[in-house]
Amino acid sequence: MVTKVAVVTGANKGIGFAIVRGLCKRFKGEVYLTSRDETRGKSAVQELEKEGLFPKFHQLDITSIKSVKVFRDYVKEKYGGIDILVNNAAIAFKSAATEPVAVQAEQTLFVNYFSLLSTCEVLFPILRDGAKVVNISSSCGHLSQIPSVALRNKFKDENLTVEQLSDLMNQYIEAARQGTQAPEWGNSSYVVSKVGVTALTKIHQRMYDNRNHRT
Ligand SMILES: NC(=O)c1ccc[n+]([C@@H]2O[C@H](COP(=O)([O-])OP(=O)(O)OC[C@H]3O[C@@H](n4cnc5c(N)ncnc54)[C@H](OP(=O)(O)O)[C@@H]3O)[C@@H](O)[C@H]2O)c1
Repeated sequence: MVTKVAVVTGANKGIGFAIVRGLCKRFKGEVYLTSRDETRGKSAVQELEKEGLFPKFHQLDITSIKSVKVFRDYVKEKYGGIDILVNNAAIAFKSAATEPVAVQAEQTLFVNYFSLLSTCEVLFPILRDGAKVVNISSSCGHLSQIPSVALRNKFKDENLTVEQLSDLMNQYIEAARQGTQAPEWGNSSYVVSKVGVTALTKIHQRMYDNRNHRT
């Protein structure tokens, strides 16, 4: 019998940790609490064990393709595939952060958008038929957060591709570097990263639907 597998990224604390707790109670299969830091991840597992819940642990840093590939190979070898993938890991600079806007833009989009995308690209090939992918966006990921109508229309375009979306994300980073056009984007790297995650989710669903219509 096939053992089902659920995976949550960035699950050593916060919402990811709570999702693992919920999955341990409801999901009939192995639940992987993953964390970029082994010590923090294992101690989170121990906390859940005290509640009588028994997730598995594996190191997973979404910004490291090598780490994601090691995890993919481990899951493929041990279980054959993934049934639930929750892309939860993300960062947010505090409003009082002193890092320059351009640095905040680069780092936030690198983790929240580009690394979520690369994680999908590495793990999607081992999703099993009927698998579910949940991307944790935010109310900040709503298009109404972007002031420019022209930009909103680009994000809304039903034909937007992943490449074009990544190009838009890079355009924001460049706007933040130049310090001239960021207001069009709403002046928040976190907002842009989550608008990107929401748009990416829609594109991936369209790609999946088209593939299913063809088969
Ligand atoms: N909290 C909210 O009000 C809220 C609202 C809407 C949406 N969200 C979204 O919900 C998700 C979880 O938020 P949260 O509030 O639970 O945040 P959190 O408490 O800061 O937890 C974020 C998690 O992501 C991990 N992480 C960061 N960078 C990572 C990386 N490179 N690789 C793997 N894991 C990484 C963190 O690990 P470390 O402990 O090692 O840093 C931590 O486990 C995020 O996507 C966030 O944007 C949150």
